[in-house]
Amino acid sequence: MNIVILISGYGSNMKAIIEYIKTNKLPINIKAVISNNPNAHGLTTANQLGINTFTVDCSQLDFSDSLLEVVTPLKPDWIILAGFMRIIPAKFISFYQNKILNIHPSLLPKYPGLNTHKKALANKDCKHGCTIHLVNEQLDAGPIIAQSTCIIEETDTEESLKTKVQKLEHKLYPKTIASLLTSNNLAPTY
Ligand code: GRF
Repeated sequence: MNIVILISGYGSNMKAIIEYIKTNKLPINIKAVISNNPNAHGLTTANQLGINTFTVDCSQLDFSDSLLEVVTPLKPDWIILAGFMRIIPAKFISFYQNKILNIHPSLLPKYPGLNTHKKALANKDCKHGCTIHLVNEQLDAGPIIAQSTCIIEETDTEESLKTKVQKLEHKLYPKTIASLLTSNNLAPTY
């Protein structure tokens, strides 16, 4: 199995995925980490972990061709979005139908889009979490593959919820990728 990981920023999920694949010696080749942001901290981390990196200009509304130019020669079986902050255009999705995975910091279908922690607090929700889903042409609305949940305490703030949810993400995403992409029976614990 070949994968590429797309990031825009810090890359903590990317790091968790790479480390999990290496530690468990999974039969998954991380062909590259690709970022739309040349200053993404995750690019440095990926290089330190021995993974090839690329930067792609995704400033056009439809950046499919620029992304395909870098991605196609890598022959990925799956595209893993890990904090990639641009909406994937339809043409690119059509090349990798049902092969693009995303992680979103809410219990979808609640709170697609941005500011999910703020919205959960404003609605006085008792629980929150993260969702892994396939990417389709609607924002954060593709079929749900896995979710992980945490309790919202009265004392929680946007920052504390972000920390709680990221902790869940770093466990759920690598395990979900492992169980989805390999016959290795490392079933995710939701
Ligand atoms: C994560 O919270 C993820 O849910 C969202 O963007 C954030 C990326 O964080 N899509 P990082 O770059 O993996 O640290």
